[in-house]
Amino acid sequence: EKGGFRTFMDKEINDEPQAVADTLLGRTNTAGNLTLDELRIDEALLRTVDKIIVIACGTAAYAGHVAKYAIEHWCRIPVEVELAHEFRYRDAVVSEKTLVVAISQSGETMDTLMAVRHAREQGAKVLSIVNTHGSTIPRESDAVLYTHAGPEIAVASTKAFLAQLTAAYLLGLYLAQVRGTKFPDEIAGVLADLKAMPNKIRTVIDGGDRIRMIARWMDSRSVLFLGRHVGFPVAMEGALKLKELAYIHAEGFAAGELKHGPIALIEPGIPVFVIVPSPRGRDSLHSKVISNIQEIRARGARTLVIAEEGDDAVLPYADEVFWVPQSPTLLSPLVTVVPLQIFACELATARGLDVDQPRNLAKSVTVE
Ligand code: M6R
Repeated sequence: EKGGFRTFMDKEINDEPQAVADTLLGRTNTAGNLTLDELRIDEALLRTVDKIIVIACGTAAYAGHVAKYAIEHWCRIPVEVELAHEFRYRDAVVSEKTLVVAISQSGETMDTLMAVRHAREQGAKVLSIVNTHGSTIPRESDAVLYTHAGPEIAVASTKAFLAQLTAAYLLGLYLAQVRGTKFPDEIAGVLADLKAMPNKIRTVIDGGDRIRMIARWMDSRSVLFLGRHVGFPVAMEGALKLKELAYIHAEGFAAGELKHGPIALIEPGIPVFVIVPSPRGRDSLHSKVISNIQEIRARGARTLVIAEEGDDAVLPYADEVFWVPQSPTLLSPLVTVVPLQIFACELATARGLDVDQPRNLAKSVTVE
């Protein structure tokens, strides 16, 4: 069932364009409006929401981090993102006006389920973004937005992450539509951008030979990942993939945090992935990350840069560049995370490790 691929993970990375396309499918009408009637949640209620708390674990939580940037930008609602197990056991301030968004591939993660129950007990409405039909979390939620990634077999989440991002964007745009915080043509514009993403993801997958080669030759015991804005959760996700699959020490940082501590880790030869924001986005962000690359390179880091096609500003400081197609900043994680997934998968394979079943891990964590 691996469809000719070495591992389920290779296959699932290859399935990513389809997972995104399928998650978008059937959710707009001919006028270009979002039709999420499947949520069966009262639009009037969505207008009263004054705070969103996203709860999830692991990779799903990183999708939640990206969702925060998008939803706050489009809807002007404050969004908190919290690991489900931390949310559950503190005195979170929750009311009937709080919308809790639970994200889970399996729909069975006990930490997330407990947090869902807790949120509803406090009077919050819970909307879940889940991949597995008939699982427990959607049954216990007030509303469900399914991701259509298809079954994910490899323990490390890949295509489900992209589908979670897609569903989170749809939710953000839907809230903007219902609450009138964006003009219909702006929403239609983002939807058109989203529909263009599957082809761009395909381009990244098809162009993955260089990163595979780098991965095969990597012998470092520690790898760092830096990103800013939506590149920050992508950096954390890149690090998580490497820990899970290759058992290598890896950490993702917010690039702006570098000089507040992590720069002390930079020593000659250490590989550092840097996710560079689009130069067409907020210019200050782009130039700040370019300075970060310059700083770490001056201290001997081996800079592995993920940048947008045409961003020649990275060239003087990059030991390697992995290009991704141009995309709107908020949607860019759909392409920037892909080289990091390929990297971790290839490195673990080259070391002879079981990519689909890494040691000590289970696909769904059904105990707290
Ligand atoms: O099924 P879920 O999305 O609720 O799972 C959450 C995490 O356990 C999961 O994303 C985990 O971090 C993956 N192994 C990451 O690759």
